[in-house]
Amino acid sequence: DFQYPHTFVLLGASGDLAKKKIYPTIWFLYRDNLLPEKTRFVGYARTKQTIQEVRQKSEKYMKVRPGEEEKFEQFWALNDYHAGSYDKRIDYELLNQLITKYEKGPVANRIFYLAVPPTVFSDVTVNIRNACTSIKGYTRVIIEKPFGRDDVSSNKLSQHLAGLFKEEQIYRIDHYLGKEMVQNLLTLRFANSIFDPSWNRENIASVLISFKEPFGTEGRGGYFDDFGIIRDVMQNHLLQILSLVAMEKPVSLNPNDIRDEKVKVLRHIRPIRKEDILTGQYIGNPEGKGDETLGYLDDPTVPKGSVTPTYALAALWINNSRWQGVPFILRCGKALNERKAEVRVQYKDVPGDIFDGHAKRNELVLRVQPGEAVYVKLMSKTPGMNFDLVETELDLTYSLRYREASVPDAYERLILDVFMGSQMHFVRNDELTEAWRIFTPILKELEDNKVKPLPYVYGSRGPQEADGKLKGYDFKYSGSY
Ligand code: BG6
Repeated sequence: DFQYPHTFVLLGASGDLAKKKIYPTIWFLYRDNLLPEKTRFVGYARTKQTIQEVRQKSEKYMKVRPGEEEKFEQFWALNDYHAGSYDKRIDYELLNQLITKYEKGPVANRIFYLAVPPTVFSDVTVNIRNACTSIKGYTRVIIEKPFGRDDVSSNKLSQHLAGLFKEEQIYRIDHYLGKEMVQNLLTLRFANSIFDPSWNRENIASVLISFKEPFGTEGRGGYFDDFGIIRDVMQNHLLQILSLVAMEKPVSLNPNDIRDEKVKVLRHIRPIRKEDILTGQYIGNPEGKGDETLGYLDDPTVPKGSVTPTYALAALWINNSRWQGVPFILRCGKALNERKAEVRVQYKDVPGDIFDGHAKRNELVLRVQPGEAVYVKLMSKTPGMNFDLVETELDLTYSLRYREASVPDAYERLILDVFMGSQMHFVRNDELTEAWRIFTPILKELEDNKVKPLPYVYGSRGPQEADGKLKGYDFKYSGSY
């Protein structure tokens, strides 16, 4: 397909996501010659502006390196901008005319990226379907969360989409699926004999999947407050990682075989119980600098007295023969002490201890970011005459092992996948249904009862109570986690 004309339409071209993420991403793909040669780009939004103005706003995020200036000009020469409403068909007909102009030859494909607010989502999709569907090639739509805010609204959205497009046309982005380490999970688990025999309840005590961010909502509180950290990160990014850690081996690497297994393991998970969740909300640190002094409720865009969590820790239980009784602990928070996303698979204590309790637990750690790494924590004898134990690591840190290789950004990889028609790293409709089934009851419970999140100080490790909770789930402290 790569020889034919392609048009990439970015709806919401004047927004934040477009300028910070999507324009840079399509530029990187273009710069690295990864896209079909005859690809054109069209921005679409309500704001009346020229492509020059769009360029000015996104340029500073596009990281043009010395020597790339000419290519950068070529990239912008392939870009257009078209202003129009989100709800009037006539505007989309004009957009269609513009796209059609580029489509010489018998085949031409179209990709629509919806970087638009959820309020206009329904209008935009209907109009794309009715006025902009390609008549001589494929039409694919890329959509971003929020995919609803509970099971009912998400199902409604799914039905709406299913009435307009086939599932093969819909690319639901969860950008964590585009991260190197998340993609590596399949390889680590299924291309090695070493892990598989112990990947179960007999050997593994607990699994901790964490997401930590060192900054707060930074003026984005208005959006965030409608959703909270559970919907923003846990229900999607962390649950996706969980399903890749816990699923059975797929029949093949075919995207649907993989997604079948992901759905299957999710179906074994009960909705989260009240006693298995703890929520927090950050308060300002009077000794901190700048933003750190401001708590979540000090953000002027956050409603007064909001009980929306900015931190959450939840244990999920998989009711199958591989995992029964093993807690999968999902933990995420904003305004914490560090930026980190990682998976810790913690093995049980060695049975029949002969080291007087000095042997610490083994852990397989996948560091998703920053600084991709896989390492195994294990006990070893200290070198020399003595016979002491020391905890050490078999360490595969990417920056040391693969000095030349650069890890592509998640969005870059995923948008290229859309051009190639691979849905392997995209969320299928039934995965989404399962995710909401697991999370809706607890969200409702927290919200109906206005459960107050526990306070934690900006820049700390989260609410102190979280550590006790972790211990209760058979997670033993080891290093910084
Ligand atoms: C987004 C969330 O999905 O992921 C943000 O909406 C969060 O709140 C972001 O900051 C984190 O992404 P990354 O790739 O920086 O870990």
